[in-house]
Amino acid sequence: MASKKLQENLDLLRKIKLQGVNEIIGNSPKNRLKSNITEDEANLSQNDKYSNELNNISSLPDLKAINNLDDLKDYMSKFKGCELYKSATNMVFSDGNKSSQIMLIGEAPGHDEDVQGKPFVGRSGKLLNKMLEAIGLSRETVYIANIVPWRPPNNRRPTEEEINICLPFIRKHIELIAPKVLMLLGSTATYALLRNKEGITKIRGKWVDMEFGKLKVPTLPSFHPAFLLRQPAQKKYSWEDLKMLKKKIDES
Ligand code: URA
Repeated sequence: MASKKLQENLDLLRKIKLQGVNEIIGNSPKNRLKSNITEDEANLSQNDKYSNELNNISSLPDLKAINNLDDLKDYMSKFKGCELYKSATNMVFSDGNKSSQIMLIGEAPGHDEDVQGKPFVGRSGKLLNKMLEAIGLSRETVYIANIVPWRPPNNRRPTEEEINICLPFIRKHIELIAPKVLMLLGSTATYALLRNKEGITKIRGKWVDMEFGKLKVPTLPSFHPAFLLRQPAQKKYSWEDLKMLKKKIDES
């Protein structure tokens, strides 16, 4: 039986949770005005945390029996192994053309995506649309999904555990779409799938051959549109990546 003190603490926690508090504030102050952190810096500190890999996760999805998109979506919508679903309004599965040869993968839904249930419909989505248009593509000619299908509270980055739990979903998703090329948008999507040691600034703009089941897919890591909104000077590199993507599709 729980001791009196423990019971009191549990009651207090329940009360706090009922008031809508879902994050714990750290003891040391954080400079939230310091926004010029690069994608690399953010990712490398994140990578430090990605050390325990899958060892501590007891709730990984089992997708062996899943062989079509509807079943995958259905399985994900009933999955309770990732706590993020609790605070999300909608699960964000995908958008675009299921028969497309091009699949783009982002990090996780933000506020607008959570409300609308579609990936990349907010500010970074608008920039993504323009980027696609610049190489003659559109939302209707590509397929888009995220590493994590539920919005992390306050738009924080998904944790190592959340990414690892959701990883089988996106890997299966890629297998089912079977695109000719894959573009990874940002450091989280890149690290989740490639486990790269170097940051996105180094790894972007180079094709990597990835395997998903029996499928082999040339994969191009690139910057995330949200990062480009913060650092417009980096757009020239994304433009190079977009041209590489276009060339690859034209050749295939
Ligand atoms: N950022 C992402 O990575 N994905 C979205 O769907 C929206 C913003």
